[in-house]
Amino acid sequence: MSGRQEHVKEGTVMRVAYTSDIHIDVSPQNLHAAKQIAALMADAGPDAVVLAGDLGNTLKELATVLEFFKYIDAPKLFVPGNHDLWVERDAGFGEGSDSGEKYASLIPALCDRMGFVDLGHGPFYIGDAAFVGSIGWYDYSLADPRLGLSEGDYKKGRYGDSKWLDSEMVSWRRYPRAAGEEGLSDKEICTGMVRKLESHIIEAEKRVDRIVAVIHTCPFPEALPRSEEPDYLDAFYGCEQIGQVLLAHKKIEACITGHKHVNGDWEIGGIRVHRRILGGVGPDDSIGERVQEAVGFLEL
Ligand SMILES: [Fe+2]
Ligand SMILES: [Fe+2]
Repeated sequence: MSGRQEHVKEGTVMRVAYTSDIHIDVSPQNLHAAKQIAALMADAGPDAVVLAGDLGNTLKELATVLEFFKYIDAPKLFVPGNHDLWVERDAGFGEGSDSGEKYASLIPALCDRMGFVDLGHGPFYIGDAAFVGSIGWYDYSLADPRLGLSEGDYKKGRYGDSKWLDSEMVSWRRYPRAAGEEGLSDKEICTGMVRKLESHIIEAEKRVDRIVAVIHTCPFPEALPRSEEPDYLDAFYGCEQIGQVLLAHKKIEACITGHKHVNGDWEIGGIRVHRRILGGVGPDDSIGERVQEAVGFLEL
């Protein structure tokens, strides 16, 4: 799936509209906001659109959101988030009942049908820039050390009142698992994603001098704000190794990320890092304001 290319005029600035974590699974307000995000981006006439994952929990929800962007006549790039990989209980042993199958074939095929490119499976080239992407994942390397917990504590996915829902809802085996059947561990998933991302970066480096990385989870500890009280769930927000891979490749100019529902902009080792998310929208929120906050523009 490599070698896909769009052309832009030489010497012009490229403007990329991006957002993440639209989560139409959360509320009817999120669905309204999703439509407005697509309309805002369409009005801006960007050179590319990037959606950095967690659009919903099911293939149907993912298709609903991607459809809103159909009027944008520019390359549309996507990486799935962990929620997009949730197993679909209603699917039984049919479509959507295995996260690995969603990741490897169902989501790329859906993107293809909806005019999007799933960056997780190969670089995409626009003019003299490449876009590479990954869902990332988490290996507990961003856990808050103040808690002093063991790997086993994080493998359980729950501690006190805190519960990480992926531990029930992501399974790289069919759902429900047969008795005793283990899915891939978080570390195994993470290692696979790190290797795949690096191979895509190396491929892109051979063709262009500037690369934008789109990573759903948090690649850098600096981009994960710690709360005053240590938070068990920090362990599930990202993986340091992804950030190390990005820093080791000097052609990476910018990184668009998501997953942690807090906006931010950072400059880390010469890489511009940006996170714009929608997150959960409640009935008392101003949808217009939330939409404005959820969309960023990156100039290259
Ligand atoms: Fe999210
Ligand atoms: Fe996420």
